Amino acid sequence: MKRKIKLFEPSIGKDEENAIKRVLKSKFWASGAGTGKVLEFEKKFKKYVNSKNCIAVNSGTAALNLGLSIYDIKNKEVILPSLTFVATANAVIMNGGKPVFVDIDPYTLNIDTEKIENSISEKTKVILPVHFGGLSCDLDKINSLSKKYNLKIIEDAAHAAGANYKNKKIGSHGNAVCFSFHPIKNLAMPTGGLISINDKNHKKIQESLYAKRWCGITNRKNTNYDIKQIGNNYYMNEFSAAIGLVQLKKLDKLNTIRRKIARRYSQEIKINSKMQFDKHCSYHLYWILVKNRNEFQKRMNEHGIETGTHYKPIHTFSLYKSKIKLKNTENIGKKVVSIPCHTNLNEAEIGKIIRLTNKFS
Ligand SMILES: Cc1ncc(COP(=O)(O)O)c(C=O)c1O
Repeated sequence: MKRKIKLFEPSIGKDEENAIKRVLKSKFWASGAGTGKVLEFEKKFKKYVNSKNCIAVNSGTAALNLGLSIYDIKNKEVILPSLTFVATANAVIMNGGKPVFVDIDPYTLNIDTEKIENSISEKTKVILPVHFGGLSCDLDKINSLSKKYNLKIIEDAAHAAGANYKNKKIGSHGNAVCFSFHPIKNLAMPTGGLISINDKNHKKIQESLYAKRWCGITNRKNTNYDIKQIGNNYYMNEFSAAIGLVQLKKLDKLNTIRRKIARRYSQEIKINSKMQFDKHCSYHLYWILVKNRNEFQKRMNEHGIETGTHYKPIHTFSLYKSKIKLKNTENIGKKVVSIPCHTNLNEAEIGKIIRLTNKFS
């Protein structure tokens, strides 16, 4: 029987296996202080993206929750897209802020930077762009708005490990950039995330986030320590960091494979509304728009191809419901489908995905 083609799958090899075994046998599996492999991963990732500082945590959600805690957003507004995973908006609420959703560009599914300015008010403090599918937002435009209105930029780069904006790695631009290393992400771990910091106060921010990721513990000397603020259990474990170090080494190679698949999709899939090819994109996912989504997904599934919907727009959930009208987001939210674009696909499978996508869309 042919194997089912999964929508997402991590790439694993002997090196990941050996890394896990070494941590297992060391009996040093985790530390709130983030020493060992966690510290090594932070240093290597910082070098990879060329940022000022990196703080590893145990998920992309934790990265966003901590990232949005850097600047006091209590009763302030944060501008973000609605077509994203709900963790992006939850992080705003968790930190006492108010999410202000802005419509997306129908060609990239990224926040429409031309529409941001209209939503900026006296209360706006942060712009929170999401690099949808691993395609960078227009960071120059966002940067010029942040300068004009004195706003901070916190990026959700959950899809964008290894992606570039203008030949510079995502992670090196905004004040804080939040990554996810969930098993289905480009850089996969059992669980993991990271905040990359470019703010000039990066040392102070690092100290504060180190405390917040481990129950507020700070100024640790031998058995003595202090608590100055509330913290959480957000630290990364050693297994994740050890796998992450292996995955980081091959991230560029893996993203090259994803780009090759995306290039074929962009050339051979006959639908007009689909992700375009961009050599800077990390292609965490590949999206297409189909009118008859339920039917399309059902038929693909019957032929052993798993697909997904990213995402149900956040402003349509009960918690976030408002009177706001986001035309492109709502329209695309009904049609968007993700098709497999991961590194374990072989040529025959890619061909089958293209053929059946053309047939059923
Ligand atoms: C855009 C986006 N933001 C945040 C997250 C949260 O990351 P995690 O699942 O590692 O908590 C995800 C994960 O799916 C995501 O896709």
